[in-house]
Amino acid sequence: MRMYDIIMKKRNGAELSKEEIQFFIDGYTKGEIPDYQASALMMAIYFQKMTERETLALTMSMADSGEKLDLSAIQGIKVDKHSTGGVGDKTSLALTPMVAACGIPVAKMSGRGLGHTGGTIDKLESFPGFTTALTTEQFIANVNRIGIAIMGQTADLAPADKKLYALRDVTATVDNLSLIASSIMSKKLAAGADGIVLDVKTGSGAFMKQEQDARALAEEMVKIGKNAGRKTIAVISDMDQPLGYAVGNGLEVKEAIDTLKGNGPKDFVELCLALGSQMLLAGGKAVNSKEAEEKLKGVIEDGSALKKLAEFVEAQGGDSKAVYHTELLPSARIVHSVKAAKSGFVSHIVCDEVGICSLILGGGRETKDSMIDLAVGIVLCKKTGDYVRAGEALAVIHANDMEHAMEAQERYLRACIITDQAPAPVPLIKAVIQ
Ligand code: URA
Repeated sequence: MRMYDIIMKKRNGAELSKEEIQFFIDGYTKGEIPDYQASALMMAIYFQKMTERETLALTMSMADSGEKLDLSAIQGIKVDKHSTGGVGDKTSLALTPMVAACGIPVAKMSGRGLGHTGGTIDKLESFPGFTTALTTEQFIANVNRIGIAIMGQTADLAPADKKLYALRDVTATVDNLSLIASSIMSKKLAAGADGIVLDVKTGSGAFMKQEQDARALAEEMVKIGKNAGRKTIAVISDMDQPLGYAVGNGLEVKEAIDTLKGNGPKDFVELCLALGSQMLLAGGKAVNSKEAEEKLKGVIEDGSALKKLAEFVEAQGGDSKAVYHTELLPSARIVHSVKAAKSGFVSHIVCDEVGICSLILGGGRETKDSMIDLAVGIVLCKKTGDYVRAGEALAVIHANDMEHAMEAQERYLRACIITDQAPAPVPLIKAVIQ
């Protein structure tokens, strides 16, 4: 086989065989196929698209390109959850202890934040001492002992995707549906869970700005999951404004803890219940959504989800006292209210701009190696549809220097649109794709 022929075949619009895709992934992972030929193939795929068979073959080859997590030593049906990323998306922090408290073993690999979206690992590191640097043995032992463990993605998990995603990033070939779906699913399949619940976000803070694109991505990923023999469900949820009120690592941890104490924001609770129900159904812990929701509400009401979070933090070296005393989480020196210039309804909050406010304050990463400040961020006081009076607080900025606080304030005021008319309400859950 020659890479030249594979590129030409795809360029001319023909379907690549499983063997040709495997040849490309093997050779590219080993460094035998150069970046310029891989880029040419990515561009040919970008224009010619891939069939369902090709997409599955690419996903499986990438999933098999490195180490695969073997979770067979963990009893029970393992159900993973993945979000395509958003602003204020602290779902894993509350949802994983909730489902673990309902008996679903949680063995999760999570990532760090980049750009305007945050990452679960950064957020968890707000607990003093917390680490995700576990060996696979410790990871599995923790799940068997307390029902939950989260670790960082190992360097050898789907290495073909890692290399290819970095290449797509600099060759304008990221935004092809089959390539995105196979990239995400290759990592999920390699991470070993029996069931996968995908939270596909749409709106101004999401990767997929348009709902029809989010739906197409969700359908593509569900098809891959099913074809790979994993139970896969996708929930399409709104990311046209931040989820909950808090944006910023430590601030989001506090909001997740408040949620487990029964005081969560309405939209965030709704999302946790929707995703959690799908996880319980996939894991055989409920027979219908009603029963699943009751179980999830039950573990909040009886305190067992909060206790599970404390056990999990403790097992990974963190200070679990912070679960009960959130004043032990990182806090910023400056707490500054952003006041509305006029009265009216908040008709839109440009969501990725709010993520950028947090980034400006130091809460996000501009490059992979940037240091982040876990204490800073922004807490919304008004969400879309709320009425605000002139001079009333729209949000509260948590900062460690005044110059960045003022910059974030200016940006937030531009991102928060106030009009005389109330906007039409938008549902949080847009669809569930089975
Ligand atoms: N996230 C991924 O992991 N891969 C993509 O291609 C796009 C988003």
